[in-house]
Amino acid sequence: MSNNAEAELLDRDSNHLIHPLHNRSAHNKGKVWVGGEGEYLIDANGEKFIDGLSGLWNNTAGNGRKELYEAGSRQLEEMAFASGYAGSSNPRAIELAEKLAKLTYSNINQFYFTSGGGESTDSNIKMARYYWKLKGKPNKTKVISRVLGYHGVTLAAMCATGINIYWPMFEPRIPGFSHIPSPYPYFYQAPENAESQGIAAANELEKAILEEGADTVAMFIAEPVQGAGGVIVPQNDYFPRIREICDKYEVLFVADEVITGFGRTGRMFGLEHWGVKPDMMQFAKAITSGYFPLGGIGVSDEIANTMNESGKPWMHAYTYSAHPTGCAIACAMLDLIEKEDFPSQAERKGKRLLVGLKDSLGHHPNVGEIRGLGMMCAIEYVKNRDTKELFDANDGIGAKINTEAMKRGFFSRVKGDVCLIAPPIVTSDSTIDHIVDIFAESTKSVLS
Ligand SMILES: Cc1ncc(COP(=O)(O)O)c(C=O)c1O
Repeated sequence: MSNNAEAELLDRDSNHLIHPLHNRSAHNKGKVWVGGEGEYLIDANGEKFIDGLSGLWNNTAGNGRKELYEAGSRQLEEMAFASGYAGSSNPRAIELAEKLAKLTYSNINQFYFTSGGGESTDSNIKMARYYWKLKGKPNKTKVISRVLGYHGVTLAAMCATGINIYWPMFEPRIPGFSHIPSPYPYFYQAPENAESQGIAAANELEKAILEEGADTVAMFIAEPVQGAGGVIVPQNDYFPRIREICDKYEVLFVADEVITGFGRTGRMFGLEHWGVKPDMMQFAKAITSGYFPLGGIGVSDEIANTMNESGKPWMHAYTYSAHPTGCAIACAMLDLIEKEDFPSQAERKGKRLLVGLKDSLGHHPNVGEIRGLGMMCAIEYVKNRDTKELFDANDGIGAKINTEAMKRGFFSRVKGDVCLIAPPIVTSDSTIDHIVDIFAESTKSVLS
């Protein structure tokens, strides 16, 4: 491939494509990806990069997995599409729901499929509201989520998302959405008399429910580990207390496992770390390793039975719900996750990555925190690690380090001055060690 093949493609791209998070100036220096091998992506000039965020956290199995693309092509050949609306089904969707019933939390056995994470958030919000109407509590409609939570950008999902730069262009937001602080162990300030930081952070939910009025709150939605917000791993006592609060005030607890699902954190699902079960869950991304856009929700037996016994249709539907090709790839992916024990791989490799990063950068004066759980890690850069003073946003420290890492063959994203590191679960040990070296060098070159 010629050296300017990428530049030519980018020129053509600019003529007609509008991108997610569209930004012309950033895009001028963009990448055009044409190939993939395992944990690597290959650009239009033939250069290889470590896929540092597994695509968008989704491609845990890496590129070129025959088991996955062959399952998809077999299904396309057999039957490309058929409706999944009530009255129609297909064997792959049936098989996928059966597999998920065995794999997910024991109280969750019924599933509705979507095309991704945002659609799943909307589906859960609508399911929660419908459930409370069926229970004779039609005023329970409000949604509480967390600052720095990311749940997608369809209008309802955007309102649940707690990263506020996603809001201003599209306001007014839908009424009835509010956000409590993130438990953020590095920054959260618990009151002096608090039992612990985790309990204090969880008690923010109780405070918000009481302020809103428990009889108006339908659900609380949270990612077990906040991903796009900066890989924020909660305290061990946080989610058990959240569960107690949701039970006490009859608020449905929704686990957004779109990133944490299917092994990423070292457990099959994120809340398993803390022995907590949600009332509803949502997943996407790694269920197909990104080989097809598929997501979904799972609801507790209590919710499913209430809906099934109502005798009324749930007026919610997507054309591509239970898409046979997506379901075929997801079934093959679940087999692969089991065969290659993705949760154990993520646990072991994630530790190697975290320990490597801490050994090489843990004492750097501008590294505030290196954190992670399983194969999702982050480095938080600060101006002063004693006071946790942040860099001026205009300094663009995170972006600069990201650029340096890219020069050294690592491609990912940043959240402010937090570098996100979440390569595919199949990444080799030697590539993990290489990532550590890349960050040591990139940090030194920007913050020597
Ligand atoms: C936790 C979480 N929920 C929901 C979403 C939205 O998913 P999608 O982009 O497929 O709509 C994302 C996307 O990154 C996510 O990380």
